[in-house]
Amino acid sequence: MNSKNNDAIIIKSVSHSYQTDTGKLPVLNNLNIRVPYHGFTAVVGPSGCGKSTLTKLISGLLKPDNGEVWLNNEKVIEPKPIVGMAFQNPVLLEWRTVLQNVILPLEIVPNNFSQLEKEKRARNLLSLVGLEGFEDKKPSELSGGMKQRASLCRALVHKPQVLILDEPFGALDAFTREDLWQVMHKLRKEEPFTGVLITHDLRESIFLTDEVIVLSGRPATNQYSVKTSKSGNPQLESLFEPKSIEMLKNLRHQIEIAQGHLGNKS
Ligand SMILES: Nc1ncnc2c1ncn2[C@@H]1O[C@H](COP(=O)(O)OP(=O)(O)O)[C@@H](O)[C@H]1O
Ligand SMILES: [Mg+2]
Repeated sequence: MNSKNNDAIIIKSVSHSYQTDTGKLPVLNNLNIRVPYHGFTAVVGPSGCGKSTLTKLISGLLKPDNGEVWLNNEKVIEPKPIVGMAFQNPVLLEWRTVLQNVILPLEIVPNNFSQLEKEKRARNLLSLVGLEGFEDKKPSELSGGMKQRASLCRALVHKPQVLILDEPFGALDAFTREDLWQVMHKLRKEEPFTGVLITHDLRESIFLTDEVIVLSGRPATNQYSVKTSKSGNPQLESLFEPKSIEMLKNLRHQIEIAQGHLGNKS
């Protein structure tokens, strides 16, 4: 690969299979994705097509059988501390306070923050997502939406070069989810990141990200992609505009193809 590149994440011709009791299970096949610096890309596709596998390949937890993953011009060959992750289940540690949970990555990933700075950074992030006053609570004292806000702070606290979100809002009710979408826009503005969002929610994908990539059924490869143009502060109402509705219809159609419901795929 050429030395310098503007894309912060490069997934280049990546294929991956799992060894299972019943043989080899091909999951990803010749997948190509590029996310520009401070870009945010959504990946959608049928259940079980390999989306979480993709997140593990990006973060270096898995090695591809073929192809390469590059983060900020560095080939990924081992797990990377420069990646921040958040999942559907926030997995906060119950014996630590909310603040202590958010600080955790700074205790693990090498950094130059003093203890005071670590705390200040965590408090700032918590305040940014609307959790001011909850710093000393235990995770069990928080609602699902609040836990997920804290989990986003934890994923960002060490200023990761890449943020990976694997269905982070999937377990939340619709209104809480929409609140979290607004939080994501705020975070992106105040704490710019390069991100990949895995989601089942097409509205979420077009509202939050710059490009939506639809994966085919397993073994997943690029099936379709669309750029979503954004300007200023995106409003939820924009989802009801004809342009958004058209985009959602197209994406829905592509998901049906990927699921094999339209007969174009086996
Ligand atoms: N460690 C593993 N060993 C064997 N098979 C796996 C493993 N992890 C995932 N799979 C299988 O790989 C496929 C893709 O899984 P996954 O990436 O989790 O899909 P998605 O996140 O798109 O739902 C599924 O069929 C799943 O059962
Ligand atoms: Mg998954």
